[in-house]
Amino acid sequence: MAILATGPNFNTNFAALGLPVPVFGRGDSATVHIPGSDALGIVVEAGKAVSRVKVGEAVILDSWTGHNIRGYETHDGYNSQFAIVDEERAIPIPSRMRSHTPERLAAMLLTYGTAYRTVVERLRVSPGDSVLFLGGGKGTSFAGAQIARKLGTRVILMGSNPELARSLQERGLVDAFIDRRAIPPEVFGPIPQDASYEEWLVRTGPFRQAVFAANDGRPVDKIFEHTGALNFPLLVSALSHNGELAFFGATGKGLKGEYQETFFYEGARFVLDARWVWMRQKQIFFRKATPEAIFSEIGLLPGRRGLIWGADAYSRGFARA
Ligand SMILES: NC(=O)c1ccc[n+]([C@@H]2O[C@H](COP(=O)([O-])OP(=O)(O)OC[C@H]3O[C@@H](n4cnc5c(N)ncnc54)[C@H](OP(=O)(O)O)[C@@H]3O)[C@@H](O)[C@H]2O)c1
Repeated sequence: MAILATGPNFNTNFAALGLPVPVFGRGDSATVHIPGSDALGIVVEAGKAVSRVKVGEAVILDSWTGHNIRGYETHDGYNSQFAIVDEERAIPIPSRMRSHTPERLAAMLLTYGTAYRTVVERLRVSPGDSVLFLGGGKGTSFAGAQIARKLGTRVILMGSNPELARSLQERGLVDAFIDRRAIPPEVFGPIPQDASYEEWLVRTGPFRQAVFAANDGRPVDKIFEHTGALNFPLLVSALSHNGELAFFGATGKGLKGEYQETFFYEGARFVLDARWVWMRQKQIFFRKATPEAIFSEIGLLPGRRGLIWGADAYSRGFARA
């Protein structure tokens, strides 16, 4: 491919800063990293087996390698003159989109792909689910809200731009909006080391009140999150029983090694290094079912590897299952 245009993305900056994890020293000896995870290319040469795209054709380039994101987790990104691409990662431009500029076509796929994976593959939304979107209605939250509405879910958007939210409501993409700036600032933030569950619950009440008010008085079924440590504990507390939270970033705070998420779940305190959860496209489920039921739900088949955390009887049940 000759690269015609590339899309700037958060991860271009993150790669340059080595956040949330360094791009070097992860199992290879590379000393040069070329970023760039979104691009529009022109096919300049094609192998014999290539049949779907032709030399001279403009194609949108996908950075998903099947395991990781090219140009972020690999060193051969698209901010270069040429790139070698598998045929399945070269997407012909649909006829309805041909009138868009190269820059626009180059800036779309990673955002929509991330939103699709989160809404469809991770959260597996169904008609009638209520889904809380962090992100204000730009970038991934815009793409995610579009996909979720198409799938019949109730979209509740949290952000700081009421005008943008109003226009999304008028377009039928958003059902309810929560202005995060209308919630007292002391509600947000990581849970202090010495805070008790009870005092934290009282201090953060206005957050849940705002979310429940936007969802007919109930906690939400699913959460689409990328804003990080200031909100994470609050979000967990606004989830319904058996709710799901998927996250893939830390825009607000927590990108540097301090991204140690602490949250309360039913009064118990949990800590995790969230960087590894979102870099590896994992999500958190809250369940109290039997080990067999949980393995069946997450599809962990015999022979696959899993980490079981704990040594009590319940954890040992997982090893047996
Ligand atoms: N775009 C992609 O393809 C992609 C792929 C993988 C991962 N990610 C990650 O996802 C994150 C967001 O990407 P994006 O493209 O959606 O960016 P974006 O469109 O710029 O959205 C970021 C939005 O997050 C909200 N925000 C910022 N700080 C916040 C805080 N402290 N609390 C609550 N909300 C806050 C802001 O909206 P309001 O002020 O309106 O709330 C801001 O506009 C980044 O961390 C990125 O690395 C993105």
